[in-house]
Amino acid sequence: MQSNNHPLSEEGHTTRNIDPCILVIFGATGDLTSRKLAPALYNLGKDGLLPPNFACVGFARREKTHEEFRQDVKKDISTFSRIKPIDEGFWQNFHEQIFYHQSEFDDDAGYVRLASFLKQLDSQFATRANRVFYLSVQPKYFPMIIEKLKKHGMIYDPHDHTKWSRVIIEKPFGHDLASAAALQAQISENLDESQTYRIDHYLGKETVQNLLVFRFANSIFESLWNYKHIDHVQITVAEEIGIGSRGNFFEEEGLLRDIVQNHMMQLLSHVAMEPPVNLSASGIRDEKVKVLQSVRPLTEADFKEWVVRGQYGPGFINGQSAAGYRQEKDVHKDSPIETFLAMRLFIDNWRWAGVPFYLRGGKRLPKRGTEIAIIFKDAPGVLFQQREHPNLPNVLAMRIQPDEGIAMRINCKVPGPSSPIQPVKMDFRYGSYFGQTPPEAYERLIWECILGDSTLFARSDEVSESWSILTPVLEYWAAHPPKHFPNYPCGSWGPKEADEMIAKDGRSWRIL
Ligand code: BG6
Repeated sequence: MQSNNHPLSEEGHTTRNIDPCILVIFGATGDLTSRKLAPALYNLGKDGLLPPNFACVGFARREKTHEEFRQDVKKDISTFSRIKPIDEGFWQNFHEQIFYHQSEFDDDAGYVRLASFLKQLDSQFATRANRVFYLSVQPKYFPMIIEKLKKHGMIYDPHDHTKWSRVIIEKPFGHDLASAAALQAQISENLDESQTYRIDHYLGKETVQNLLVFRFANSIFESLWNYKHIDHVQITVAEEIGIGSRGNFFEEEGLLRDIVQNHMMQLLSHVAMEPPVNLSASGIRDEKVKVLQSVRPLTEADFKEWVVRGQYGPGFINGQSAAGYRQEKDVHKDSPIETFLAMRLFIDNWRWAGVPFYLRGGKRLPKRGTEIAIIFKDAPGVLFQQREHPNLPNVLAMRIQPDEGIAMRINCKVPGPSSPIQPVKMDFRYGSYFGQTPPEAYERLIWECILGDSTLFARSDEVSESWSILTPVLEYWAAHPPKHFPNYPCGSWGPKEADEMIAKDGRSWRIL
């Protein structure tokens, strides 16, 4: 990131002021801090995007000195940062702003010490009592930590204009509709919605943010963006990786909760939403919620015919043998947990009436690729539908990752007298055009939270609408355990039922 001009900023507010603050990370010795949060802070600092008056405190249960924590952070940055090698000159100053606080999450005394330590840091760094609390902990601790922070005076009145406190909550937010509502009820006893920043890191991805710019800053697309011109939409989140060391987590979550309920539903709402009235957080989020509210509820017939679940068995990835899900560490040998899902949804509104949205996501697929593809209706066949070379429908493919970019498939005449038609690709790639690696999602999201802009965070009603769509699937699955798991080998594109599902509509999945 080169400047703090937000592509989605409201008109007239291209440069935003950033307040001094302290960021406290709960779960500071965890995997997310190592891989994502520490590198994100370092890169924000290097890009000059952190407030000049800033400090970071890692909160965790293990005993550690400030110096030991700093050394851990340095190691994490050296390993995981997108900018390498670490800049020793910058680090010399930066590391003095990093501290460690040891406490149990339920220990009041630990919060009393934290409050006084933060005050001491306020005098040292002139951070004016502003706070971001990042909860990178298991969801069961969210309500307790927030309650303790409030009890010990660290969550302020949201109307206090002299100082602010904000809480970033990692996913998963709830386990289903009822548990998300219960969690929300507990949290809102101590935290206002305006202070709540629910992370879905897909919202921090440059290419997801670009979806709105692409759709609403280009007049050529809007008139085509509806049921009259679009045949169907495919959203794919394919991952080559398996579950790695996250067996315990995945056994609880499964793919639907891990990826579909949050990341894929965000992609769906971005691609299907109406133009917002303005670019404020509520302007954008209101429109996204309307999309989710318009998704046609799934029925028992849909669960049987139009939702396919899968689990990977042993196979090969890139020529290397790979274990099946049930052989992974901490996974039950008869696990019914899904690592693949394909489904068809309809959005019952004026724009999308009758247009199927096919969603497909899975672990241990042949390659990593997240894409939204808009498949347009066929051109009338009167002129060029030759038998041997039928013209293919136009496709607009928005690649979220990797090779971030946008490609358009158009039909073209092959040079020469015989005039066969061949589809060609117009391809725009961020990397080659802008010549830089896009910043990591976590950089953008931490920065947005410090700025107090919640546009790129999920609002409470978005989360519950998404759960409303998907909880019936979970309930149906719980009542009907899978009979044929595992049903796809590692390194394949998922179970054959997923291909059969889309084939019933006379369509096929895109090859990524
Ligand atoms: C996380 C999921 O939210 O997103 C992981 O918990 C998944 O299971 C990851 O691998 C995918 O993120 P990305 O940014 O690599 O697409």
